Amino acid sequence: MKKRVQLLFFSLLTYSVISCSQTDEIKYKNPKYNVNQRVEDLLSRMTLDEKIGQMNQYNGFWNVTGPAPVQGDQAKKYKHLREGLVGSMLNVRGAAQVRAVQKVAVEESRLGIPLIIGFDVIHGYETLSPIPLAEAASWDLKAIKKSAEMAALEASAAGINWTFAPMVDVSRDARWGRVMEGAGEDPYLGSQIAKARVQGFQGEDLSLHNTILACAKHFAGYGFAEAGRDYNTVDVGTSTLNNIIFPPFKASIDAGVKTFMNSFNELNGVPATGNTFLQRTVLKGEWQFDGFVVSDWGSIMEMMAHGHAKDLKHAAEIAANAGSDMDMESYAYVGHLSDLVKEGKVNEALIDDAVRRILTTKFELGLFEDPYKYCDELREKQVVGSKPVRDASLDMAKKSIVLLKNQDDLLPLAKEGVNIAVIGDLAADKTSPLGSWRIAAKDETAVSVLEGLQVYKQNIITYAKGADVALGEPNFITEVQINQNDKSDFSEAKKVAKKADVVVMVLGEHGFQSGEGRSRTKLGLPGVQQELLEEVYAVNKNIVLVLNNGRPLVLSWADKHIPAILEAWQLGTQSGHAIAQVLYGDYNPSGKLPMSFPRNEGQVPLYYNYKNTGRPVAPGKDVVFWSHYQDQKNDALYPFGHGLSYTKFEYSDIKVTPLPEGVEVKVNLKNIGDRAGKEVVQLYIRDVVASVTRPVKELKGFKLVSLSKNEEKSIRFVLTNKELGFYNNQGEFVVEPGEFSVFVGGSSKTVIETSFEL
Ligand code: BGC
Repeated sequence: MKKRVQLLFFSLLTYSVISCSQTDEIKYKNPKYNVNQRVEDLLSRMTLDEKIGQMNQYNGFWNVTGPAPVQGDQAKKYKHLREGLVGSMLNVRGAAQVRAVQKVAVEESRLGIPLIIGFDVIHGYETLSPIPLAEAASWDLKAIKKSAEMAALEASAAGINWTFAPMVDVSRDARWGRVMEGAGEDPYLGSQIAKARVQGFQGEDLSLHNTILACAKHFAGYGFAEAGRDYNTVDVGTSTLNNIIFPPFKASIDAGVKTFMNSFNELNGVPATGNTFLQRTVLKGEWQFDGFVVSDWGSIMEMMAHGHAKDLKHAAEIAANAGSDMDMESYAYVGHLSDLVKEGKVNEALIDDAVRRILTTKFELGLFEDPYKYCDELREKQVVGSKPVRDASLDMAKKSIVLLKNQDDLLPLAKEGVNIAVIGDLAADKTSPLGSWRIAAKDETAVSVLEGLQVYKQNIITYAKGADVALGEPNFITEVQINQNDKSDFSEAKKVAKKADVVVMVLGEHGFQSGEGRSRTKLGLPGVQQELLEEVYAVNKNIVLVLNNGRPLVLSWADKHIPAILEAWQLGTQSGHAIAQVLYGDYNPSGKLPMSFPRNEGQVPLYYNYKNTGRPVAPGKDVVFWSHYQDQKNDALYPFGHGLSYTKFEYSDIKVTPLPEGVEVKVNLKNIGDRAGKEVVQLYIRDVVASVTRPVKELKGFKLVSLSKNEEKSIRFVLTNKELGFYNNQGEFVVEPGEFSVFVGGSSKTVIETSFEL
């Protein structure tokens, strides 16, 4: 009898639980509740497997124009989608495609949780802006923000709601191919640009249909790969980590970035993906980051090759415990997390924490209100490739160009009566200017330099290729496929050059010679281009060298001989127009280098904010025992911050005045040339004596100033504790009293200086 009563009691209890949840309001579907309430409600309804599903990200697998996949791995992914075991997908693009996969997640899975759709929108979607390193050369934060806004506009119209950008890795090593994706060597400039990019992508309101999630990557240290070889080991001390590597990541959080990506490299012996110090102690602890962390592609699995995990299950355990919230294509979480929780190796509370973070962004994107908000095919047609996007790309391209040298004012070119020889494979190339990371852009869609120059019809243009740069399929270019010895077109190029008043030579790297996996040990002009340059120079010295490249190059010979050199990077869709407008002076260049250009490869890594050492003595005092090379100078050929204009600027009257909190620095800037121009005024400091040695110069402010001919302006900066302090080796931010030098100028080298006591 007692047993039966008990049974009845239990069945009543069960009944009441079921009936309660059945009549219970489904809060997560109701926008009247706040995001937290909705997330908690949804979480409480999810099985462990469904939670883990949210932490699983798959690469695109299903072409909407074909049938749903039925076989193999793809069929398995599709099945997972229907079972609610996929939280996000990458590399699905186009409104129709995205709608198709979203439909399965929302309409066929039990809880109908929409997917986040990620894509590498690194410098534009289909309309490309300059590569990020080039954009950084503009030092123009408004333009950079606008460029990210335009990228978000186009990408969101094509179904995407998450970009794996910005890459905020500081790097001092031009051998590393991925320097093209970042903002260069400086943490201050890098932080400002990180902020601008995050704000550009995410806008004010993530729930709008034209803003997308940004992702600060790669956390952390990826830019410090030993010897510039991609994916290589990273071993850096506390000071470099805190003062150089971390600041742009922290700045991204301050700008509200919603996601982080961890990194392929190990950092001081522990792979970033399984690094608890990076992801839990610093990122989610100290910095209180409340978004989520996605792994890099397969980086959870790669912990086995690193020698840190014994198998995939072990890798899943390490990554989840270390705070990697989403698994990009390792199949580790979907395959093993559930068992790991059951075995007590991963606490379910950590799973809940990861899922909360992921679901929160989905609610913030407004996906629960309208999962198809990015899937409007009409909007896609109207927005992708539209005029505002193309115009912004042209504007950004002009601003990214850096005039490295302009002897005897060879530039700008006269608009009529000039016989111009245009030489170089890259001059006519309509694909290479798109640069690396251009997954959605079509080949042959950039305006070539030749096309840009042809807009100016009053001059005579003759073109000769000179030599091939790339052989074979551009996407798969390796060093071997660069033209190493075919000089058969040299003679034609020389013939054309001989007859010309001026020769415009477009040389450099093919767009696919930088980027991921494209590290190089030689930084000169690839293939036979250097020989071509020298041979053409022998017949006509009046050369304007236009460079296309994704990293600093070694240009020592060119600097010595060629009168005018224009750094034009890979400028994207509007490349040729931007270059032509600068060559003809319709746009006065104002770009400044975000990375030092070395004199030779042996100097790399090379950066302006180096330490003084105990033996910084200049030659003369001691010819041997000081910190130098016997066969090369220490400094850069073109230093960080360098860039000329068609006008000239004069700096004078630098003054420092104490303020209640910090100091004010004022300097006078005058346009002493014969045309209007824009100058990037740069402010550097040196903390002369400190408990942890400080660099000889550190950028701490910059301003873009436009001046008409003869105009002068007083430029004001304020330095507070934030700029004057640094992280010591205990990771504490300290401001130490004593002497500070202050430098202001048009590059990290050409400065006027003063000092003050703090
Ligand atoms: C790169 C990431 C990128 C990811 C997805 C990886 O190889 O390192 O930066 O976002 O692929 O495409």
